[in-house]
Amino acid sequence: MGFLTNTAKHLLPRSLLGRSLMIIVTPLVLLQLVSAVIFYESHWDKVSVRLARGVAGDIGSVITLLRQFPDPEDRAWVFGLAADHMELAVALQEKGILPNEPVHPQGLTERALIDALREQVGRPFQIDSESLERFYMVSIQLPAGVLEVIVPRKRLFSSTVYVFVLWMVGTSMILFGVATIFMRNQVKPIRRLAIAADNFGKGREMVRVKPEGATEVRQATLAFLSMRERILRQISQRTDMLSGVSHDLRTPLTRMKLQLAMSGDAEGIGDLRTDVDEMEHMLDGYLAFARGEGTEQPRLANLTDLLAEITEQARRNGGQIDLHCEGAFTMPLRPNALKRAIANLIDNAQRYAKHVWIRAGRRADAIEILIDDDGPGIPADKREDVFKPFFRLDNSRNPETGGSGLGLAIALDIVRGHGGDIELADAPTGGLRARVRLPV
Ligand SMILES: Nc1ncnc2c1ncn2[C@@H]1O[C@H](COP(=O)(O)OP(=O)(O)OP(=O)(O)O)[C@@H](O)[C@H]1O
Ligand SMILES: [Mg+2]
Repeated sequence: MGFLTNTAKHLLPRSLLGRSLMIIVTPLVLLQLVSAVIFYESHWDKVSVRLARGVAGDIGSVITLLRQFPDPEDRAWVFGLAADHMELAVALQEKGILPNEPVHPQGLTERALIDALREQVGRPFQIDSESLERFYMVSIQLPAGVLEVIVPRKRLFSSTVYVFVLWMVGTSMILFGVATIFMRNQVKPIRRLAIAADNFGKGREMVRVKPEGATEVRQATLAFLSMRERILRQISQRTDMLSGVSHDLRTPLTRMKLQLAMSGDAEGIGDLRTDVDEMEHMLDGYLAFARGEGTEQPRLANLTDLLAEITEQARRNGGQIDLHCEGAFTMPLRPNALKRAIANLIDNAQRYAKHVWIRAGRRADAIEILIDDDGPGIPADKREDVFKPFFRLDNSRNPETGGSGLGLAIALDIVRGHGGDIELADAPTGGLRARVRLPV
């Protein structure tokens, strides 16, 4: 049962257009098939029998007339009568003898004719339907000889069936065409909406969508547009606030740095300087976060070049970095933001490890960037926490490797803004593996 439904699912069209066309066309075809079958069964049958009876009746009349008027002169008159009024060409082969072969009917028409002849003529006969293209030849054994009757096919044959089938097929085709055109117009706005939502989710330039089509589609489009508006407003509010706060805090911080610089080397000043430096670093991080998110517009960029550039920059900080790209990837993205995200990950790897491996490749419907290192890694139960802003493992580990704890938070934010995600795992090289997925 499950197998059956599965096969049925595979056979069904997947697109909305295909499905709705099927919904329209299946009952139509079924209806036509049923009516055609009924037509064949009763109408066609009856018509054939009646036509055959008509012909057999005419032949019977001719035979009766010939029997009544056996004179050769009268015979010509009877034949003339048959030709003029019955469309039958009749001739008599005197002394002729029919071969005694059984007749094999081919098809409905012939069977009907044979039945009718048996009923109405009651003499041995043969039917030849092959010698002449548009006629049947009926030969009947009479005492005087063989009576040969040439019957036009159209006297035995109703062409309405063909006309009927032709109309049926013709109208279905026209209906199918019209339905396709209409349905395609109905599906178009849904497809547009899907593309727009997909692009928005991946942080790309929006294709313009306007509410159109059926009421429900219009409703969905309007809901999507207002949702998009709300999300954009929220994002810009957040970035505005973030950059505002960071900016305002900088002024007093600069003043503090200035005062520290002037206060010489008093006791405890060193610690204070470190704290102030750290605060500045955090504010820089905040500002970078805010800037990266808000203003940059997505554009078509070469991810491979981007990675090469970041790697080049990172190599200047020392340490060994291997970069390997499987092919060239060009996709719409915000280059500066993405650069910051990847740079943050590489920066982490460099900070905690000696050797970094970067690999990029296409996986199904996404580009995957792997950043592996041979450092201490992050314990599995902390892999969620490190993405939180200001969360650092080093506090207990090593104060020397100072940072604000914003790097991963910013990177995740940017990658999610591209519709992607970052996962942390164990690297086969012993340290941490950061897997960045960017949908294409
Ligand atoms: N490659 C890594 N190997 C080991 N630990 C890591 C690695 N990357 C991150 N971590 C841990 O995750 C914590 C959070 O990283 P995150 O990048 O968010 O902050 P940070 O590097 O400490 O500061 P920032 O990046 O803002 O300068 C780090 O403090 C570190 O303990
Ligand atoms: Mg970091």
